Amino acid sequence: MILMSAAILLWMPLSIREITAYAVEKIVEPENPITNENMYADYPYLRELDMSYQTAFDFPMHQVLLDHERLSAYICNYCGIQSIYNQSLSKLPHLTLIVLKHNALKYVHPDSFQHNSRLDHIDLSGNQLVTINSQATLRHISSVSILNLSQNRKLDINRVKLECDRLMIFSCNNCATTYLDRNSFAGMSRLSHINFNENMVDQIHYDALEWLSYLKTLNIDGNRNLTMLSFSSNSLKWLSAENCSLEGTLQTSHLPELKTINVRGNRITNLDELSLVTNRKINTLLLDDNELEKIPKILIKLPELQRLCLDRNLLQPYENIDEAALVYKKRFLRQNCSQDDIFHHKFEYYLTNKNGVAVYKKNPVHSVSNNGATIDLSGRNIVFIEQDYLIDYANVLEFMFDNNQQFDFKESMPFLESYSVEILYMRNCSITALNSSTFEKLPKLTSLHLQGNQILSLQGTSFYPQHGLTYINLAGNNLQLISITAFLLLGLLKVLILDDNQHFWRTNRRHFLISTSISNLSCENCGVEQLTDETFNMMPNLRALNLHNNNLKSFDLNPLNELETLCIDDAYLDDTTLHKLEKHFDRVTELEAGCKKQSLSRLLRSKINSRNILYDIADATAMTDATEETIIERSFAGSTFESFARRSAGQAIGLNILVILITSLLTFQLYGSHSHIHSVREQNLLHNDQKNVNAQPNCSGNENSTDSASSEESVIQKRNDHQYQQQEKERGAIARE
Ligand SMILES: *[C@@H]1O[C@H](CO)[C@@H](O)[C@H](O)[C@H]1NC(C)=O
Ligand SMILES: *[C@@H]1O[C@H](CO)[C@@H](O)[C@H](O)[C@H]1NC(C)=O
Ligand SMILES: *[C@@H]1O[C@H](CO)[C@@H](O)[C@H](O)[C@H]1NC(C)=O
Ligand SMILES: *[C@@H]1O[C@H](CO)[C@@H](O)[C@H](O)[C@H]1NC(C)=O
Ligand SMILES: *[C@@H]1O[C@H](CO)[C@@H](O)[C@H](O)[C@H]1NC(C)=O
Ligand SMILES: *[C@@H]1O[C@H](CO)[C@@H](O)[C@H](O)[C@H]1NC(C)=O
Ligand SMILES: *[C@@H]1O[C@H](CO)[C@@H](O)[C@H](O)[C@H]1NC(C)=O
Ligand SMILES: *[C@@H]1O[C@H](CO)[C@@H](O)[C@H](O)[C@H]1NC(C)=O
Ligand SMILES: *[C@@H]1O[C@H](CO)[C@@H](O)[C@H](O)[C@H]1NC(C)=O
Ligand SMILES: *[C@@H]1O[C@H](CO)[C@@H](O)[C@H](O)[C@H]1NC(C)=O
Repeated sequence: MILMSAAILLWMPLSIREITAYAVEKIVEPENPITNENMYADYPYLRELDMSYQTAFDFPMHQVLLDHERLSAYICNYCGIQSIYNQSLSKLPHLTLIVLKHNALKYVHPDSFQHNSRLDHIDLSGNQLVTINSQATLRHISSVSILNLSQNRKLDINRVKLECDRLMIFSCNNCATTYLDRNSFAGMSRLSHINFNENMVDQIHYDALEWLSYLKTLNIDGNRNLTMLSFSSNSLKWLSAENCSLEGTLQTSHLPELKTINVRGNRITNLDELSLVTNRKINTLLLDDNELEKIPKILIKLPELQRLCLDRNLLQPYENIDEAALVYKKRFLRQNCSQDDIFHHKFEYYLTNKNGVAVYKKNPVHSVSNNGATIDLSGRNIVFIEQDYLIDYANVLEFMFDNNQQFDFKESMPFLESYSVEILYMRNCSITALNSSTFEKLPKLTSLHLQGNQILSLQGTSFYPQHGLTYINLAGNNLQLISITAFLLLGLLKVLILDDNQHFWRTNRRHFLISTSISNLSCENCGVEQLTDETFNMMPNLRALNLHNNNLKSFDLNPLNELETLCIDDAYLDDTTLHKLEKHFDRVTELEAGCKKQSLSRLLRSKINSRNILYDIADATAMTDATEETIIERSFAGSTFESFARRSAGQAIGLNILVILITSLLTFQLYGSHSHIHSVREQNLLHNDQKNVNAQPNCSGNENSTDSASSEESVIQKRNDHQYQQQEKERGAIARE
């Protein structure tokens, strides 16, 4: 392919081919390699020859490559050149640019450029030069201003001698230079830009650059063993030392002209405030990914400062941090600091003036147990934890963060990110609110222990994306408000503990909560005073209910018939309720079996005992002068109190009748309104059972009364149907909202 540019089409008495050739100034990627030195003799105006991608092409050994008076640029990238001989370029007197990127150069004769006195730019990057030649030198390059030896991966510039006193830009990125000292750039007094990225420089001597009085920029990114910047320069304006191993205090006092400093990705812990005071020219300071704990006040006030980047450091809380943040914002110092615009990746987000500790992934401080399954950060006065603190711990199941007493979540920001944590302990912190995003990045979370915080309210969305939660403990939070739908969407939630939250119940609350999954609910000391039929009817799977330490005055057992455990105190129950409960003594006993204390069944037992004593006394008296009639009367008395009352009306009422009355009352209470006495014999049997109620507490009449059982069942069934419909209605209403 031949390109023509700026053709000078003069009429000349020559063949067409010659006219065309005359006009050609630039040839890019010719079909054929150079086969003889006069190959382009017909192109006297040729300025630039680019032979790139002739991968098999090498310079002819000990021969002239090309004889051309005018050629100014010779380019052969991705060719197969292995050597430059002293004759190769000797007949290109106008050569100013030679670019041989990505060849296989191992040898360049020391005098290769002897006859190229106009040479300005040499690019031999991406080759295999080590010492260039056996003399380790290149002569006659004093006209060169740009030299690129990058990606000669074994080249240490201290092992070669390059005499180029006009050199301005010297690049040797990805070379193998191990140090820089006063001799490294000997003979290059005009150097103004040095690029030595990704070498192996572990030391730059104090005087390595001092004498380079034109030096403006130095790029030494990625010299991963370089720990200190102790060199001096009175001219250097721009310094980049990203991803080195700079540690301790960043010293810039020997670099008084410095305007831009990039030291991202090091281990800098401090800035030398003194040098900052003296060095007032700094306008750009890139300090991301270091280990700075503080932002020196002086820094943020540097008069020329325009750009300051501080992300991902180890900033610790300190006083007046708000002021620093304010100044930072006001001066628009964050310019192009991060590509993404995510606020919680920015250092401003980490700043906190609370008195405590901030912990970062880079500097982990936790203890580990259970072979890495438990990570503990409890009791360290942590006020901030970096979101991806746990990201590299794929085996952690349990994360302990108790007793960080000043810790609260950042509003609307996910707390931690972990794909393994299942159990989270954050007891006795200062958490005031949960948002739907709080646990968003903990998708495996099943157990949440938030006792002893200061959460005021739970909204319908507080736990929203946490479908996997099975256990939530919110005891002792002083919750003022819990939306009845707060747990609605947690379809696997089984255990909910709300002990010691005395206020949320006060609000006129018809239903406790809506949840089809919660089976165990504890609400000790919740200020519950009354339970109605509706209180728990939106919790169809509730099996264990702990209401100890509430001033419960009344409740009805029937709506709670699905319960297996019910813990309740007797102290405030009104007489009517107690009265009713006596009839269900066995059920109450059974329900209380799994509770810490069994005060209610104890109370009922003692009540029943005292009644039985009263009955025994009365019965003994009755038996002594019982008549056939009174026995029959008594036998029927159990069926209905009214019929008994009718029959006995007008009769003289003596002790006998009183006994009957007591008996019938007891019978009535024990067997409930559904019990029917079918015969005298049965009545007597029941009578006997009832006398032995304490000895055989399980022999409850209910269980064998098939009629009552089935009628009760159907009542429950109906209630459940109704309840279900009502739930569906409420769910629909919620969905519509
Ligand atoms: C090339 O080098 C040889 C000796 O190494 C020398 O005799 C010869 O004159 C040089 N040729 C040119 C063109 O410089
Ligand atoms: C030097 O060469 C490398 C590799 O070819 C290139 O990436 C870099 O831009 C060059 N540097 C200069 C200053 O020309
Ligand atoms: C850093 O130093 C170590 C030990 O001296 C050495 O093994 C390693 O190759 C060096 N790395 C670089 C990038 O210089
Ligand atoms: C420094 O390291 C980071 C992280 O490895 C990388 O993203 C960045 O590109 C590196 N910077 C330079 C200039 O190589
Ligand atoms: C920030 O980046 C934009 C676009 O990349 C550029 O125009 C602007 O000059 C940069 N600002 C600074 C202070 O570097
Ligand atoms: C939380 O604080 C309470 C009251 O000070 C204390 O009884 C409890 O043991 C603490 N919980 C934890 C997990 O330390
Ligand atoms: C976070 O939750 C609190 C309390 O639940 C609420 O007041 C606040 O508005 C929520 N913030 C956002 C951004 O949702
Ligand atoms: C839930 O309640 C049942 C029934 O009382 C009980 O057996 C079980 O241990 C409770 N589970 C939890 C986790 O408290
Ligand atoms: C009564 O119940 C208790 C426990 O609830 C049980 O151990 C006992 O065997 C039962 N007695 C009878 C007679 O069913
Ligand atoms: C129920 O009645 C049957 C026979 O009618 C009896 O065998 C059984 O023991 C009774 N169960 C109870 C708990 O009283």
